[in-house]
Amino acid sequence: MAADVIEAATVTPAPNSRRVYVKSFGCQMNVYDSNRMVDMLAPEGFVEVSQPDNADLIILNTCHIREQASEKIFSELGKMRVIKDARAKAGDHTSIAVAGCVAQAEGQEILRRQSAVDLVIGPQAYHRLPDLLKQSALKQRGIVDTEFPAEDKFHQLKDPSAEKVRARGVTSFVTVQEGCDKFCSFCVVPYTRGAESSRSVSQIVEEVRVLAAAGVREVTLLGQNVNGYHGIGEDGQPRGLADLFRDLACVPGIKRLRYMTSHPNDMDQALIEAHRDLPQLMPFLHLPVQSGSDRILHLMNRKHSASDYLDIIKRVRAARPDIALSSDFIVGFPGETDDDFEATLNLIQTVGFASVFSFKYSARPGTPGVNLPNAVSETVSKARLAKLQSLVEMQRQAFNAAAVGQTMDVLFEKRGRYPGQIGGKTPYLQAVHVEGPISMIGSILPVQIMSQEPNSLVGRLLA
Ligand code: 5AD
Ligand code: SF4
Repeated sequence: MAADVIEAATVTPAPNSRRVYVKSFGCQMNVYDSNRMVDMLAPEGFVEVSQPDNADLIILNTCHIREQASEKIFSELGKMRVIKDARAKAGDHTSIAVAGCVAQAEGQEILRRQSAVDLVIGPQAYHRLPDLLKQSALKQRGIVDTEFPAEDKFHQLKDPSAEKVRARGVTSFVTVQEGCDKFCSFCVVPYTRGAESSRSVSQIVEEVRVLAAAGVREVTLLGQNVNGYHGIGEDGQPRGLADLFRDLACVPGIKRLRYMTSHPNDMDQALIEAHRDLPQLMPFLHLPVQSGSDRILHLMNRKHSASDYLDIIKRVRAARPDIALSSDFIVGFPGETDDDFEATLNLIQTVGFASVFSFKYSARPGTPGVNLPNAVSETVSKARLAKLQSLVEMQRQAFNAAAVGQTMDVLFEKRGRYPGQIGGKTPYLQAVHVEGPISMIGSILPVQIMSQEPNSLVGRLLA
């Protein structure tokens, strides 16, 4: 999953409305949650703004996955405090809420480290946001809600308005599964997001229908362990991710389906066959392996070997030969030797990835990894990361180079970088720019790929 900061869309607020500014850190699941928080707040008179300076409510939706990710939040909170103090001088009140995984992991500690914070709200409590804001307005001290309540958060969340869906564009995320039971020894997710739970098929289909009716053409299903999805079907029987895709492929208007992030051990035959059978299921698979060394995979508690992973890739490629592959890697895990790292490079060479996310190991408090001996030095980790990244960059460029000269269907999503251009994605998730009218946004059109730039392709509309 990407670790970018994603800013909110702008809407001009009515004079009597309150303004909410949301900043998402970390993975796409936080982006989805941020949108749902904004949807929850809309009936309370809140309008989303793209800058914090004049916001009545600032929400930081945080990520705790690596150390740098959580430290970034405290430096961001320092900046928000300056805004809050400046507005207070002018007689305006700003509430600051910390949501997401840092909220879940650090709770009360956030109020101690940054007294400007009014509300700390864990990922399972977003539907209680309006109530919690009212409570915090009545109290002097900050409020912390990091319970894992029994009620189904998704039942309580509000659907976005059609106008809001349109403002967000033709692609959308939909969280279908939360939490993780895998307990990889480096990872905080099982502690911050709790045990695996899946939404029901009917709830997801309904949400996707609402999105499609408002113009969404591509939906990416999200979950910390999305291919571990096991929701209840209409008949009360459990359904896997492949069944869910078969239902969603029938929703009128939905042209493309994607999913992330998956675990190799949940890559079942039904899902592999869905890649073979469903034209809507895009030929792109993000399947993190983390390391190519069996010794390190064992220490990571991954419960699969490098050859298990290669076997899955073989079966996926047999079902869908053109599938683009993507993965996450961690370098410098405790005990990782030069040979272990070589095994990772070998695995990368064997598979050939279209894109990769790679990280230096970061010891996270509360995970078993912190107790492992033989830490790898910063210098060695840095050098390994650079070596790995240069190899995967070569593979990414080769993958994009192979597209040049081909004709591909592109879903146009937005205006391009220059006037007169529009931008979209190939089925393999490559960014493409062409000369074309903005009326084409939302359409899937054949494009001849003419050339390759460092991070995108340049094409020519054939239609
Ligand atoms: N250190 C470094 N990378 C990590 N990831 C998860 N936890 C850690 C950690 N403690 C990476 C994994 C995971 C991705 C989302 O983040 O590669 O797949
Ligand atoms: Fe973390 Fe492992 Fe679960 Fe992925 S599968 S969320 S890395 S514990």
